[in-house]
Amino acid sequence: MLAQDVAVALKGSHEVITMGEHELDICHSETVNDIIEQSRPDLVINCAAYTRVDDCETEQEKAFAVNATGVKNIALACRDRGSLLVHISTDYVFDGTKREPYREADETHPLSIYGQSKLAGENFVRTILTRYVIIRSLWLYGRGGNNFAATIHKRAQEKTELRVVNDQTGCPTYTCDLAHAIKALIGVNPQGIYHIANQGTCTWYEFARRIVELTNSTAEVIPMSSDELERPAKRPAYSVLDCSRFIQETGMELRHWDAALQEYLQEQQAEV
Ligand SMILES: NC(=O)c1ccc[n+]([C@@H]2O[C@H](COP(=O)([O-])OP(=O)(O)OC[C@H]3O[C@@H](n4cnc5c(N)ncnc54)[C@H](OP(=O)(O)O)[C@@H]3O)[C@@H](O)[C@H]2O)c1
Repeated sequence: MLAQDVAVALKGSHEVITMGEHELDICHSETVNDIIEQSRPDLVINCAAYTRVDDCETEQEKAFAVNATGVKNIALACRDRGSLLVHISTDYVFDGTKREPYREADETHPLSIYGQSKLAGENFVRTILTRYVIIRSLWLYGRGGNNFAATIHKRAQEKTELRVVNDQTGCPTYTCDLAHAIKALIGVNPQGIYHIANQGTCTWYEFARRIVELTNSTAEVIPMSSDELERPAKRPAYSVLDCSRFIQETGMELRHWDAALQEYLQEQQAEV
């Protein structure tokens, strides 16, 4: 999902080579090495991950193979060829007990296997490379993949009632906006960890209600608790990210999530 928008955002200004899972399995270190050796990129942006958060609980080996060892393979190849690695990570490295926006240096404490595997990936990047960029974002939705916004949009047309959790607070982030933010960041000689998200905060329930409202659906959105939903992976109750480092260094502030959502839904409706 994110990779497609990143490729579009960078096309005019960079020579972009995209690699899907069929061309490059990041778990195979030799293939990773060969491809980076052949193409010798100035910059590698790793958007690949095993992102099925609940499945990670039962598929721990796969989660760590992709999200940790795969990232290690890329970091080693980047070190050997002198390419700058921009690696995408997640708010799920935090446990959500803080009640104000998380800063880059805040203590990590993932609650899920997905979060643990993503943190292990971050740690490989930080120990292998002296110069790197780790971007943590959250609650992604966009044109290129399955996501919460698309699911609610679809279900709101089919059902009269939707139950959505109201005890997790974060910030929905549009992949198109994140892609442009990545483009801005790579232009300012970045180093280290950055938090990037759309502005504002909400719960999943509030996000769903807004989707229903904006698409003129008559479906009723009913709040529920995470305990009632009983999903295998535990999620942070609060994972708003403090993006001030990114804003300071790039001079760019992403728009409010509501404005981004409106654009996304308009585009979805135009496609239909
Ligand atoms: N989605 C979110 O809400 C969210 C929130 C915070 C951070 N992030 C992070 O943002 C990044 C992009 O997320 P996204 O939502 O765009 O994810 P996505 O749509 O699931 O894309 C990840 C891609 O990685 C591919 N992949 C999986 N295993 C691979 C392997 N071994 N080698 C090469 N490619 C492989 C997947 O292919 P298949 O589809 O064929 O498996 C998929 O195309 C990830 O690092 C994710 O952890 C996502």
